[in-house]
Amino acid sequence: MNLILLGPPGAGKGTQASRLMKERGLVQLSTGDMLRAAVAAGTPVGLQAKAVMEAGELVSDEIVSGLIGERLDELGPDTPVIFDGYPRTAAQAEALDALLAARGRTLDHVIELEVDEDALVERITGRFTCANCGEGYHDRFKLPKADGVCDVCGASNFKRRADDNEATVRQRMAEYRAKTAPIIPHYEGRGIVARVDGMASMDAVAAAIDAVLGA
Ligand code: AP5
Repeated sequence: MNLILLGPPGAGKGTQASRLMKERGLVQLSTGDMLRAAVAAGTPVGLQAKAVMEAGELVSDEIVSGLIGERLDELGPDTPVIFDGYPRTAAQAEALDALLAARGRTLDHVIELEVDEDALVERITGRFTCANCGEGYHDRFKLPKADGVCDVCGASNFKRRADDNEATVRQRMAEYRAKTAPIIPHYEGRGIVARVDGMASMDAVAAAIDAVLGA
């Protein structure tokens, strides 16, 4: 199975992708995570991407499609994948078609998480993750069960993203509206687009996605 999760920043793509990875064995391909790793490692890609990401703008199509192509080659043809945060432009959607076709893969589902943009600012500015294992949390919606201790690995250091501030979030939303939402018709004619209410609780969103994917 190959699946795209689409939605504006904070819609819950990463939350649901990480759940699908644990529950169904799909591999999450998040271009945002790949770029943040490149920035942290100080690679040439990271050096180019850092300022663009901090401004809430989009990194070049060539860079992100190159990253996805490399990961697909590492995984081999039969590993089921979730594209999280990719594609984000018409050029990336076309590049993904070519990357998949060249590897004998097909796209089974495009799931759009529909959300209220004002609520997203609260979701994103309250987000933090475990610095050790990457488990995601939220100041209001998902706190660790024991104060200051990761539920998954027991670590006690957490981190917040440099681009998770209100001004950058609003710019990321504007990029989504202008460049990413218009790619949905690219998939509509193939009958593989499903829309899920991303404003529901995390469990309800999970159930709606599972209903689309089937057993
Ligand atoms: P990226 O890392 O992809 O960020 P994003 O798309 O802005 O999405 P987020 O990760 O912020 O949100 P999400 O939908 O995953 O939400 P989450 O599940 O964490 O991209 C960052 C930057 O990298 C871009 O701005 C760009 O510069 C660059 N980039 C990346 N890909 C690119 C590409 N293809 N092309 C060009 N540039 C690219 O949830 C958010 C919070 O809400 C969490 O705290 C979570 O606990 C909580 N939450 C989740 N679901 C619910 C729910 N149902 N109810 C209540 N709370 C919830």
